[in-house]
This record gives sequence, C-alpha cells and structure tokens, in this order.
Amino acid sequence: VVGLGPAGDEWRTPAASARLAEATDVVGYQRYVDAVGPPRPGQVRHPSDNRQEAARARQALDLAASGRDVAVVSSGDPGVFAMATAVVEERHRRPDPAWEGVDLEVIPGVTAASAAAARIGAPLGHDFCTISLSDVLKPWSVVERRLDAAAGADFVLALYNPTSSQRPWQLAQALEVIGRHRSEHTPVVVARAVGSDEEAVAVVTLGSLDPGTIDMRTVLVVGSSTTEAYDDGTGRRWAYTPRSYER
Ligand SMILES: C[S@@+](CC[C@H](N)C(=O)[O-])C[C@H]1O[C@@H](n2cnc3c(N)ncnc32)[C@H](O)[C@@H]1O
Repeated sequence: VVGLGPAGDEWRTPAASARLAEATDVVGYQRYVDAVGPPRPGQVRHPSDNRQEAARARQALDLAASGRDVAVVSSGDPGVFAMATAVVEERHRRPDPAWEGVDLEVIPGVTAASAAAARIGAPLGHDFCTISLSDVLKPWSVVERRLDAAAGADFVLALYNPTSSQRPWQLAQALEVIGRHRSEHTPVVVARAVGSDEEAVAVVTLGSLDPGTIDMRTVLVVGSSTTEAYDDGTGRRWAYTPRSYER
C-alpha cells in the first residue's frame, strides 16, 4: 500500500516511487491512479470508484495472491483516512485462505496536514490531532463529540474532508463547536491542493473563515490557544505553535 504524498512528485518518497516503478499492477481510486503518472510498459492499471474501498482491497489481495506485484495507491499517507486500513482490515475480518502467503507492506507518505503546515511555518509544533469531518463512515454526533473534546483540550486541529456537495452544512457546524473553545482571532491555515499547480495556502482567523469558500481538496489547521501568526515584512504570513507553555 503506497502513499503518493499530497500531490505531484516533489514530496513523494523515493521508497514510494521505487515501489510504483516495480509494480505489475496499480489499484486505486481513479484520481490517485492517474496521479501515479504514465504506466511503465506492461503495468496494468485498475482504477475504481472512491466508495469501493473494501472491494478494491480484496481485488488487490487477490491479484497479489495470484503472484502479481501490486501497489494500492492513496494520496498523502495511506494510513491517514485512506486505503491501508481497508487492506489490513479485510485481511483480518474477511480473510481468504488464498491470501495467506501475501507479503503486505505499507509505504508511508507525507500527509496533507504536514504538507500544509510546512508551507506556512510550524502550526503542528505542539500537541495536535487530526479529525475527518466526513460523516459518511461515522455518525455526525461522533464528529461533534470529538471536535468538542479536542478543542476543549486545546489541541491544534487538522481537519480533513472538510466539506463536499453531499455534506454542505457540516463545516459551519464544526466551526461553531470549535468556536465554543477558541477566540475568533485564532489562526487557521487554509491549505488547498498543496503541492499541485493549483496550490493556495493562507493564514486567516477563525472568525473570518467563510465555510462557503472551502472545498474537498482543502485541509484546515485550526490553532490552539497558543498558536501565533505574523507577517514577515515581505508579504508572507507565518503561523506556529510554540513547543513551550512558559510564557
Ligand atoms: C480521504 S482524505 C485522504 C488523506 C490522505 N491520505 C493524506 O494523508 O493526506 C482526503 C482529504 O485529505 C486532504 N487532502 C488530501 N490531499 C490534499 C492536498 N494536496 N492539499 C490539501 N488537502 C489535501 C483534504 O482534506 C481531503 O478532503
């Protein structure tokens, strides 16, 4: 299972690139299979729909059991809201005896929150947690409870899957929950399509963030009570979370 990094080749690890070059078969959501780049001669591509995670994992395990060298691809890190779970879980919960000899390996990648943070400084410099705002695979009540607890405990929050056409109101509700614990001046990193030609990264405030301007290709990093932001005099705005509470 191979993590492609946030976008493009720049942040793809050499280990991931080597695995992709060796693979006889590449399995994944269409957009991520396309992101691998042109297939080497003889390499077979198996693109599928985004919601087919379990079926895709089983297909990959079947191919590997038949002797193929398979790369299941995910954006970012494959262990963060991505395909590594589906593969490991299918092998555990619904095993096929044919898979016994399959040699499974997970190749990590740069996750979206790390890539976004690197662009503007160090907002993840102290305790943080990642929360997916998607309520497709978990109830919204669980999302709200986690947001409330994590914001209440003063974690920096990296929010993945912030919105989609099927989930139009959730982000505004999430910001309302976080706002119970944070000042409206709290720095928020809005990072869209990091690493791609369409990258746009900005530091705004919790009070000024308009949920209507956010899309699915965006990760948000909401600061803790100690996160700071400043302009460096050249037009660039930086954000960081101090490692020390001694202030
Ligand atoms: C299903 S999750 C996959 C996360 C991925 N495995 C990772 O580690 O980054 C998809 C979400 O990741 C975030 N994301 C993925 N790539 C991104 C990028 N290049 N720029 C900003 N956010 C990204 C967005 O929040 C998006 O909705």
